[in-house]
Amino acid sequence: MDKLRVGVLGATGLVGQRFVHLLSRHPWFRLEYLAASLGSAGRRYEDVVSWYMGSELDDRLKGFILGNASDPASVPRDLDVVFSALPSSVAMDVEVPLARNGFLVVSNASPMRLERDVPLLNPEVNYEHIKALELQARLRGWRGGLIKNPNCSTAILTLSLAPLRKYCLREVIVTTLQAISGAGLRGVNAYSIVDNVIPYIEREEFKLREETRKILGRLSSDGVEPGDVRVSATTARVPVLDGHMESVHVRLERAFDVGEVLDELKAFSSLPQELGLPTAPKRPIVVMLDRDRPQPRLDRYVEGGMAVAVGRVEAAESLPGRWLKYVVLGHNTVRGAAGTAVLIAELYFKMEGMV
Ligand SMILES: NC(=O)c1ccc[n+]([C@@H]2O[C@H](COP(=O)([O-])OP(=O)(O)OC[C@H]3O[C@@H](n4cnc5c(N)ncnc54)[C@H](OP(=O)(O)O)[C@@H]3O)[C@@H](O)[C@H]2O)c1
Repeated sequence: MDKLRVGVLGATGLVGQRFVHLLSRHPWFRLEYLAASLGSAGRRYEDVVSWYMGSELDDRLKGFILGNASDPASVPRDLDVVFSALPSSVAMDVEVPLARNGFLVVSNASPMRLERDVPLLNPEVNYEHIKALELQARLRGWRGGLIKNPNCSTAILTLSLAPLRKYCLREVIVTTLQAISGAGLRGVNAYSIVDNVIPYIEREEFKLREETRKILGRLSSDGVEPGDVRVSATTARVPVLDGHMESVHVRLERAFDVGEVLDELKAFSSLPQELGLPTAPKRPIVVMLDRDRPQPRLDRYVEGGMAVAVGRVEAAESLPGRWLKYVVLGHNTVRGAAGTAVLIAELYFKMEGMV
């Protein structure tokens, strides 16, 4: 099989470098185009990336001359998919013209995530929402398509919630401890975060609430309708490099037994596993029984960073109603960003019969 041709916009950032790393060894995809800001355009990839992936790159990728990611017209016409790791401030101006002009765009940026005709996909949780692309094409007249992957903490949370839907989710209360890398390469200044915790992340609580409701929602002929679940989030930045941890309380309508819940979490698998997609983790949820796990340093790379690690699963008996509590950890630039976007593209091409 000829490999599908792919490009990455924002390829020099933390998510972009993760994309390049994942795609450089991909069995179906071949990297053909990398682009970054105007300041980096025209320079060799290895001369611009100063972070950790550089030394692992093969010579072909090291020598790529970066394109200008803010100019959609410079994206080569023959790409099968464009992955976007652009800042939200520029994403729409680039992604929309690309989708309109026939490109499939899978994007990490937040604009348009909540539009009813834009699939917001966490593949194991809501793969069926990919069909919202048909409505998108009808409503907007685009020749290509735009798919979003969720905000990092939402991707991690919703994967852990997926098997709990059988107990009928009613409310979710989540408190996050988010890694520095979640804010991007120049996001948090060292003096603010070392020896510190910052109990606020701009717009993160809104994203966790509304994106979770959309992902757990239902696809109808009018697009995706948010699910009937209440979500309250508190988000904090902590001095960890990679890996978001989340303390979660969930109110379930149906009676549950903790042992049975543990079995459901361990056994959870979905369409990406059935289809054998290359980036799909064998076990999307890895259950940890030691009381002091999961931990970012030890557990962020479970299943190559594509699974979430869940521990401390207990009934919260002091609360009225049926509350379950647990801790979940996931790799924010893998499961929370580039890895999920690659998985989405694999799902798309498999469903289209192109691989
Ligand atoms: N970090 C995470 O864990 C995470 C998780 C989920 C989603 N996201 C989202 O993913 C996107 C990328 O995040 P990141 O953490 O990788 O950010 P980042 O490290 O700041 O990287 C930003 C990338 O965009 C390029 N860029 C900056 N300004 C640009 C402009 N005006 N025009 C064109 N390109 C421009 C940068 O190129 P230069 O190197 O040339 O400046 C760089 O390649 C954001 O929308 C973010 O919200 C991030």
